[in-house]
Amino acid sequence: MGDLFSKFDPLIEQRETLLQGGVTDPFNLVMERVESPTVAICNGKRTILLGTYNYMGMTFDPDVIAAGKQALEDFGSGTTGSRVLNGTYVGHKAVEQALKDFYAMDHAMVFSTGYQANLGVISTMAGKDDYIILDIDSHASIYDGCALGNAQIVPFRHNDVEALDKRLKRLPPEAGKLVVLEGVYSMLGDVAPLKEMVAVSKAAGAMVLVDEAHSMGFIGERGRGVAEAQGVIDEVDFIIGTFSKSVGTVGGFCVSNHPKFEILRLVCRPYVFTASLPPSVVATAATSIGKLMDSADKRTHLWENSKRLHAGLRQLGFTLGTDEPQSAIIAVIMPDLETGAAMWEALLREGLYVNLARPPATPAGMTLLRCSLCALHSEDQVGEILGMFAAAGRATGCIS
Ligand SMILES: Cc1ncc(COP(=O)(O)O)c(C=O)c1O
Repeated sequence: MGDLFSKFDPLIEQRETLLQGGVTDPFNLVMERVESPTVAICNGKRTILLGTYNYMGMTFDPDVIAAGKQALEDFGSGTTGSRVLNGTYVGHKAVEQALKDFYAMDHAMVFSTGYQANLGVISTMAGKDDYIILDIDSHASIYDGCALGNAQIVPFRHNDVEALDKRLKRLPPEAGKLVVLEGVYSMLGDVAPLKEMVAVSKAAGAMVLVDEAHSMGFIGERGRGVAEAQGVIDEVDFIIGTFSKSVGTVGGFCVSNHPKFEILRLVCRPYVFTASLPPSVVATAATSIGKLMDSADKRTHLWENSKRLHAGLRQLGFTLGTDEPQSAIIAVIMPDLETGAAMWEALLREGLYVNLARPPATPAGMTLLRCSLCALHSEDQVGEILGMFAAAGRATGCIS
């Protein structure tokens, strides 16, 4: 009998070699206590968090916590059912209204995660004879949405407007086409040229979906994302987002102005065939989204943090994923996995947590130390972070 696990042998071996070298497992860290959006206790040590998606620092907001507690008291711990049966409470309608207000759009549909939002919308919208044209560096949930459906997949080179245009022009003019883009790409923290991409997509008669998971709350005048910042939000057909980043809880959504959008509630399997979010979660999300609309000061501070960290890391001699800071994500490129893991561990010992990212999550086989900033990191903390990078970088030979 063939052991179905044998296909994982190379990965098991790579992992064992890494751990035998004495490195802590970078994918198994435990947060023993979380003191605030920027500080936790890990391995008994105070650790600055620079590897969360808590961009706007909403997880400890007193209003958000109070709303969650109240909903837990009033509605219990879970819905135990699908949105189309017993799983729609007033809180689910309230968070969908909060999203409609936030994006100034006609429709909002909440899923149990952002991953499911991509699975559901992409697989349902693009059918058998349709085409999905997507950036090759798209998130796993976008690829999995393609795999769940049966449309033809046409990838194009990352952030390359000309390549997108060429692919679109080769497709049958009358065929259904869905162009799938992201506002901020989460591995390198770079922003898509959405204005140009939406223009070529519309010229080819395609519908456009933009995943704004890493830009919601932060980018754009009112935090609506890159589509808002580049002035094309009204031309985008679907915006996908998540509650697991700037909103500070868990859940996913799609907003749209399409007049037939509501039919998705009956035909989208990852919406129908799963339990809805707990009442406490939708209550915290609705409160957080309401507050994000008026968080201009936090957005300004987060940009300052991003610029300060980018400039400081560059000055220390690290190679970064972008020439200029484009988002709250700053990727430090490592020469290989071994050095990346050693540097990750040295930083943890200094008291700093960042994400170690490696293929297949990363593009072009890169190993990255991914830093994601929070609007609540103080100027002093950014200084401390740079000091830790300097010490760990010298200890591991990453910088001289
Ligand atoms: C671009 C993108 N889309 C979707 C998701 C999925 O979000 P969620 O955590 O809500 O499942 C992520 C999560 O990392 C993401 O980076």
